[in-house]
Amino acid sequence: MQLTPKHDLYDKLAAQLSSLLAGERDLVANAANFAALVFHSLPDLNWAGFYFVRGRELVLGPFQGKPACMRIAFGRGVCGFAAAKRATTIVPNVHEFPGHIACDMESNSEIVIPLMKNEHFIGVLDLDSPLPARFDDADAAGLETLLKILLASTETDAS
Ligand code: SME
Repeated sequence: MQLTPKHDLYDKLAAQLSSLLAGERDLVANAANFAALVFHSLPDLNWAGFYFVRGRELVLGPFQGKPACMRIAFGRGVCGFAAAKRATTIVPNVHEFPGHIACDMESNSEIVIPLMKNEHFIGVLDLDSPLPARFDDADAAGLETLLKILLASTETDAS
């Protein structure tokens, strides 16, 4: 099978992430290195990081990029939408998304992926890009695979 450059990149990242997280089970440590690896390996990102569930809110976790909004209620912005729906959400143009929370004026497109472990909703991964329509289904699939590696390597309240 011929791999596209994007699939190839995510395959390489999956291998790097597995070895990076080997031997560590702490959520903060693993999420921090996940964010750093993704931010510095995927092209055209200006923000990559996590929000974790605290009650009916998302609270900022480890990330790379400019300082960001610290609390997001379920239903608010792209992260809150993905949290309320428990669904991967790709937004090609954030300026057209009702209620989008602009943490960095450079952001033009965004992808948010829920983290589920043993049917418990733990948080979301959020990536922002200055490019319009930066994210597609190949990114969603690649990032979901990376998140499976993160969750399998990490102790959480849900495990
Ligand atoms: N834009 C997000 C907020 C988080 S920042 O992008 C880091 C949103 O609308 O939920």
